Amino acid sequence: MDAHAVARPPSPMLALPVASWTDPLAPALQAEAQEALESGSVLVFPRLAFALDAAEWQLLAAAESDGSRKNVSYDPATGVLKGTALPPDRRPALAAVMRRFADSAQALLLAVAPGYAPHLERARTSFRPTEIAGRAMPWRKDDTRLHVDAFPSRPTRGRRILRVFVNVDPDGTPRRWAVGEPFEEFARAFLSRVPRPLPGSAAVLHWLGLTKGRRSRYDHIMLHLHDAAKRDAAYQGDTARQHRLDFPPGTAWMVFTDQVPHAAHAGRNALEQTFHLDPAGMAHPERSPLRVLERLTGRALT
Ligand code: SIN
Ligand code: FE
Repeated sequence: MDAHAVARPPSPMLALPVASWTDPLAPALQAEAQEALESGSVLVFPRLAFALDAAEWQLLAAAESDGSRKNVSYDPATGVLKGTALPPDRRPALAAVMRRFADSAQALLLAVAPGYAPHLERARTSFRPTEIAGRAMPWRKDDTRLHVDAFPSRPTRGRRILRVFVNVDPDGTPRRWAVGEPFEEFARAFLSRVPRPLPGSAAVLHWLGLTKGRRSRYDHIMLHLHDAAKRDAAYQGDTARQHRLDFPPGTAWMVFTDQVPHAAHAGRNALEQTFHLDPAGMAHPERSPLRVLERLTGRALT
């Protein structure tokens, strides 16, 4: 078969009966899970609660964002905690809860894809306390609109964005998502709306400190795909092309959010861990957005 033939739309999710964050998966299950993940499925772990004792839950409940941002964020590499209104003496305990989740998420990911280890960078951990439904957001930040992840200040230069979530809501509230079509279809629909980058703009943004590192052509395209999808009302309203996914408390899930168009419609109290992966670490690097976009545009993008 032609390696570039359009793949059949993958199943939007694969449920896995895993009940431990750290145990290795049986080899056949591991291979199936990694294959699904790289082909754009959401891996769902319906039996994978992130257990919090009463003291830990109280910390999260009191951690509420300080209003300057929508989430509490933690950097497991530096220990820096941001966005919490907690008094300084309680912050180390909150950091410890977030670090425990960061470690659990990493163990789970490496159980699914052990080969990623040398190509993986663990980025931020977030706690997302606020109810999504009804929250007013400017369109570009509105994650109830289907999008692929791309962040203006954080160029990845082709590295993947992979996220692990768990719903820890104590009141039974599910987190409600929709996911869209395979990445190549998504990219084909919006590529013609990506303008040429202004000459020198990447250097200027970097020089001004507006981007962490220099924006590659890949980052430029991904940002514009993100924006083009979010501002296209007809695309957003075409729900027949979307799959609904509900994640009740006690459920974890993982997904390449740079590849899978996704929207979060409702829910509160989730923990999330972001990873970056060099496509070289994938079993199928040709499925990475970088390689797909290079094929569609006919040029090197990093
Ligand atoms: C997003 O990445 O668009 C938001 C996901 C979530 O918070 O559930
Ligand atoms: Fe997103």
